[in-house]
Parts: sequence; structure tokens; C-alpha cells
Amino acid sequence: MTDERGTSDARGTVLVTGGFGLVGSATARRLSELGRTVVIADLDTPATRTAAAALPRGASARFVDLTDPDQTARLVADVAPSVIIHLAAIIPPGIYKNRALARRVNVDATATLVKVAEAQPTPPRFVQASSNAVFGARNPHKATGPVTADMPMKHSDLYSAHKAEAESIVRASSLEWVVLRLGGVLSVDPKAIPFNADALYFESLLPTDNRMHSVDVRDVAWAFAAATTADVAREILLIAGDDSHKQLYGDITPALAGARGIKGGLAPGRKGNPDDDDAWFVTDWMDTARAQEALQFQHHSWQDMIDEAARQAGPSKYVLALLSPVIRAVLKRRGAYWKQPGQYADPWGAIKRRIGDPSPDS
Ligand SMILES: NC(=O)c1ccc[n+]([C@@H]2O[C@H](COP(=O)([O-])OP(=O)(O)OC[C@H]3O[C@@H](n4cnc5c(N)ncnc54)[C@H](O)[C@@H]3O)[C@@H](O)[C@H]2O)c1
Repeated sequence: MTDERGTSDARGTVLVTGGFGLVGSATARRLSELGRTVVIADLDTPATRTAAAALPRGASARFVDLTDPDQTARLVADVAPSVIIHLAAIIPPGIYKNRALARRVNVDATATLVKVAEAQPTPPRFVQASSNAVFGARNPHKATGPVTADMPMKHSDLYSAHKAEAESIVRASSLEWVVLRLGGVLSVDPKAIPFNADALYFESLLPTDNRMHSVDVRDVAWAFAAATTADVAREILLIAGDDSHKQLYGDITPALAGARGIKGGLAPGRKGNPDDDDAWFVTDWMDTARAQEALQFQHHSWQDMIDEAARQAGPSKYVLALLSPVIRAVLKRRGAYWKQPGQYADPWGAIKRRIGDPSPDS
């Protein structure tokens, strides 16, 4: 049976931008499990070509650069989606290295996609991936309670500014929009999140007592898939794990690294400055009650993730356990605060020193 768009799925096609990224891959898998027709749109790279060779059932891939308005217009016209899940973005730490490109992807391409979607004969629902970063830097010594959807947005750095701008574009559109503001997305799959020099340095600069609300990528995928049909039009929903995911940076990496065999954590970090409200990273615990009520997406507790990460780590964890003292010694010297003056973490200074300018666009 075909619907008016000529597809075989009466619920219509879901277009997932950035669909080969961390969240996108899991979202395409979840939609496939639900029997949905999915088109993944992502850049043409060796990694996305490899991923496209093993697509989940019901999914196909289109290689596009969403910073090119012509490619975007052609994509949307060809696919005629009933829903767009817009995930494509350049996120930390890479965003601070590629400021101009990041603006074109995170803000300009979102504006183009929204405009193209609005001009469709049947405009799609637009599910926007936003972030708890839109609440800005959060000093846990001053900011009380979890953040809620109605709190004001604050531009603390380039990423929080881009996500807030993109969200504002989507919310000002005539589309049936839904905004999902994500917490810190983690995966039990050791290959899913890059473990390179930039990522390790970035991890070492985050204040150890900075709050971060983690969430299993499979639960995020569940939320995006549910948001394609749930009665949540024009709502902002806060997507993070259950209460066991309300964590501090200083506890997360040692637990995950430990599950993979590295005992005793990675580089020692620094606490944040209680007297400087700006010297904190752009994450906090969130009130997920409404999102959970509407989308029923929280299925993996923090302990479930740690147990599963340990099971998935394989035999390498015994080797890593033996190498732990050496790994720690090396990472200590590469850490953001090695031989740096001062007592407290200075996340923006550390980003500027080794990655790039983190300040919002002027
Ligand atoms: N990962 C997190 O912890 C987190 C937290 C909050 C919000 N988010 C948001 O969720 C979304 C997905 O994040 P992710 O972790 O999967 O990121 P990711 O970097 O893994 O995936 C982003 C994808 O976008 C694609 N992309 C980049 N530029 C493109 C372009 N010009 N045209 C087409 N595709 C392009 C990339 O190739 C990549 O596959 C982003 O919007 C991000 O801001 C993520």
C-alpha cells in the first residue's frame, strides 16, 4: 500500500540530518525497529560511506552538504518527508577549532532547512536537536535546582550561542516544531565516541564538580523517534536519563574508563571556582518529568550503562588494567592544568590555549 507521497509507509518518511553521527545512527536504528521509512542525510566522507554500507532495514542514505542551499532544497523536495529530525551540527570540542564553518552548519544551515521545509506543499514536523547548553554556564554553588524548559537562554560560549540561535529560528517558524534539549549523550559502545587527543584534553579541562546530566544514546534515539508522532507539537522537552544520571564530571569518566579496564581514572582534574559564575561548562541537571511523561524514553540507568560497557569492553580491558599506571602518567602530563598556575579549573582559558576561541560570535 502506498500513501499520497508514493511511499510504502502511511506515517511518511522521516528525514534524519546528521544521521550517521552518534545520535543519528541510534535514531535511525530505533526508527527502523518501529518499521518507519528513514532517509539519512549526512556528509560524503569515508566514514559515512562505510556506515551507509550497513544501513538498518527501511533506511536509505543521501550524501549532502547542508551548508549548500541547493543541495538542501533538492534533498527535501526528493524525500518529501513527513518529519525532519535535524541533528546535523558541529559540536564541542571541534566547534572551537572551526568557528566559521560551525556557524554555517549550526545556524545558517538550520535557517535554510527551516525555510525549505516551510515551502513544502505539506510542511513536515520539525524535530530540532538542541542542548542543555542553551542555559549557559552553570555554577553549582549558586544555581539551585534542575533547569526547566521555561528558564531563559544564555549565550556563554560559541556552542550555547549557536544552539540557542538555531532553536530560536525553529521556534519562530510556521512549522509544527518540537525542540529536544539533550543532556550529555553517552554510549556503551567503545567505538561510538571518539577517544582522541582533543577529546581527552577536553575531558580533562571540565570542572570536576560541574554538574552534568547524562543519558544513554539509545534513550535519546527513543525520544527522537517518539517525538515524530507524540502529542508534543511546539513543546520544548528536556532529554536526559533518570535520577541516577545526575552526575559530576569528576565521576563520569573514571567510571566509564574503569568499565573499560583503566583503573584509577584518567588525568586528575580541578574543581570549578565557586566565586566565578562564568568559569563553568554549559551543562547542568535537568527536570525531565514532562519529557518522560510524553515520550517514555528513559530505559537505561547509569549502572546499567556501566555494567554493559564493562561487558562490551572485551579482552582489551585486561591489557588496559595492566597499563593503567602508564596511561595515567602520560595523560597527567597532557591534562589541561598540568603545570598551570591557580587552584581552580578555567575551562574557557584551557579551551582557548589548546583548541580555539570559545567566545560567542561578535
Ligand atoms: N552528543 C551530545 O552529548 C549532545 C548533547 C546535546 C545536544 N546534542 C545535539 O545533538 C545533535 C547530534 O549530536 P551528535 O552527538 O550525534 O553529533 P555528531 O558530531 O556525532 O553528529 C553530527 C553529524 O552531523 C553531520 N554534519 C556536520 N556537518 C554537516 C553538513 N554540512 N551537512 C550534513 N551533515 C553534516 C556530521 O557528519 C555528523 O554525522 C547535534 O545537534 C548536537 O548539538 C548532542
